[in-house]
This record gives sequence, structure tokens and C-alpha cells, in this order.
Amino acid sequence: ASHSYSHLRSNAQCSSFGIAFDIDGVVLRGRVPIGGSPQALKRLYRDCGTLKVPFLFLTNGGGIPESKRALELSELFGVHIVPAQVVQGHSPFKNFAKRFENELVVATGKGDPALVMTEYGFKKAISVDEYASYFDHIDPVSQYKRWTTKLASEDNDKQTELVPRFNVLADRVKAAFVISDPVDWGRDIQVLCDILRSGGLPGQRNGGQPPLYIAADDLEYQAAFPCERLGMGAFRIALQSVFNRIHDNALEYTSFGKPNPFVFRNAEMILKQLQLYSDHHEKLIPSNGHGEAHSFKTLYMVGDNPAVDIKGARKAGDTWFSILTRTGVFKGKDNHSEYPADLVVDTVAEAVDYILKKEL
Ligand code: G3P
Ligand code: MG
Repeated sequence: ASHSYSHLRSNAQCSSFGIAFDIDGVVLRGRVPIGGSPQALKRLYRDCGTLKVPFLFLTNGGGIPESKRALELSELFGVHIVPAQVVQGHSPFKNFAKRFENELVVATGKGDPALVMTEYGFKKAISVDEYASYFDHIDPVSQYKRWTTKLASEDNDKQTELVPRFNVLADRVKAAFVISDPVDWGRDIQVLCDILRSGGLPGQRNGGQPPLYIAADDLEYQAAFPCERLGMGAFRIALQSVFNRIHDNALEYTSFGKPNPFVFRNAEMILKQLQLYSDHHEKLIPSNGHGEAHSFKTLYMVGDNPAVDIKGARKAGDTWFSILTRTGVFKGKDNHSEYPADLVVDTVAEAVDYILKKEL
């Protein structure tokens, strides 16, 4: 996308821009703020604490409900972030809640996958951790695992037998969801293969594959270690490779998250709602809002991963202006060769500085 900036200067009064920030490798590494992110984000609020610039977080990560993540991020950055400003890889899963409302679905990934799904409205969502615990010997190496998975029922009374919340052993799993980076890849590959090749009843052989939904397809992400770590895309490749060797039909799956263009369209819709708050100097509490949101002239995507954040912003259309930081996956001196960003900066602080100088 080629951009000329002259039109932005002539419209300096109107908040016709918004910002989407990637999280890992841009504002955080692990749980540590990076690149001057707390100060940079504060610049997007007025002194009275109301939102001045519509912005949100657009991450492929997840594992906890948006409401909880908003609180966590507010604490880390020292600004007031509302759940609407947190778009995670699994956020689109709430659109499946109606379809699978009363069906048994399993979810895996770090954090609390069952809680995420339950908050979206799934009434019979269960974590793979819990699901596997009802099947004796489903993981033949579990006794060699030094870590323990604490289940809610174990917290209450260690003596009581695990009582399934649903008729887990007889109920067919109707869909499987990978909501974030899986913790126990070996166990998850085994149990997901069991579910997917048996038509949702582990231990049986035949049955059509239930749908598999994966929150994102990042091969690698930055995290806290000096080199990138394997992400959900790597897990997907591992699961798919094994499944395709043990099963006649190739694995069918749908992955969400950046760089899919619908993620950016959805972000634009949410930013429009946030624009109403910022234009009317409102505190960030849900209300019906006033007036009509106007179209954005420019939407900025600030990301660290060329194949995910920048590729996605480029595909999303000319409104999107991509800014690549050097604090995460991308560490090059010049622009990325395959997915060049509209601008390359060292840190998110530099990105915000550039945007505010252009726009305000
Ligand atoms: O697991 C999270 C990682 O895949 C990506 O996070 O915030 O860089 O989109 P983010
Ligand atoms: Mg990132």
C-alpha cells in the first residue's frame, strides 16, 4: 500500500485514525513491558483519563477471557483498558457458541481454555486436561510426567473421585478448539488424534472428523527467550503430520487470527465504536454511544512479525498503514524483503511518536 501523508495534515482536528497494537514482541515480552510501552500508551489518553485515540490490542495469543486480560494489561501499563480493546486469537470463537451451545466441545491451550469457552456461551466446554483425566491410560506416559495438573474437583476434596460434569465418556465431542499455545504437546496430539479420528469418541475407530478450530497459525513468536519460540502454527503442523500418517483422510481444520483479513475488518469495526468514546470524551464504560462513527482515513497496525502482522495489514487494504518494530520476531536492519512494512521503527514508543506527529 502506498500512502501520501498530505491529506492527514489537512484533517488534523478529526480523530480519523485508530491504532491496533500487537502484544507479544511489541508491548510485552512474557509479562514484561518493552519498548517504552507504558509511556507510549499513556499518550493515547487525555489527562482526565478518557481515551483520546481509539486503539486496541490485536493479538494472536490468548488463554484467558478478554475481561481478565483487560485487567491484566491495565495493571501492566497503568492505563484503563476495557475488554472491547482486547482482541485475542480465540475471540472469534464466540461466534460458534450458538452452534455448539449444548454440545460437548473440548478446548486446549495455556491458561484456562474451558473458562474462555464458557464465557463465550458454550455450556458443555471442557479442557483437554479434564477430558483426558476421565480416560484411563489415554496418555501412556502420564506417570512419567513430573508436573501435575490440578483440576477444580481436586482442589475441593482430594478424596472424592472425579465426577464428570457431563456424560463425558458416552458423549460425542462435536468440535475441538485450540485456543492458545498447548502446554503438553504430546498428550494433546494423542488425545486430539483420538477425538478427531473416532468421530468424537476416543477408543473407537470410525466416524467423521469433528471440526477443529485453531485460534492462530503463528509458526513462531517472540516471548521472553532470546530466540523465537514455537507457536500454535508449529503445533498445528505437528498434529497434522501425525494425524495424516495414522488416518486415511487428511486433517481438516480452520485457523483464525492474523494475517486473516477478517481479523482486520473486525478490528476496524471495534475501533469505530471506540472512536465514539474518544470523540465524546467519555469514560470507557459501555453505553449506547452518541452519533455516528466516521470512517477512518488511516488505521495503523504496529507489529513485530512480518509474516503475520505486516502481511495481514497489507492484505487488509489501503486504509491500513503497517509499522514494524524491531523488539520481537523481526530484528533486521532494513525493511523485511517479503512483507515490507510502510514504516520500520525500533520500538512501539517510536511508532506512537510517529503516528501522533502525523495525526495531531
Ligand atoms: O502465543 C502468542 C503468539 O503466537 C502471538 O502473540 O501478540 O504477537 O500476536 P502476538
Ligand atoms: Mg507479536
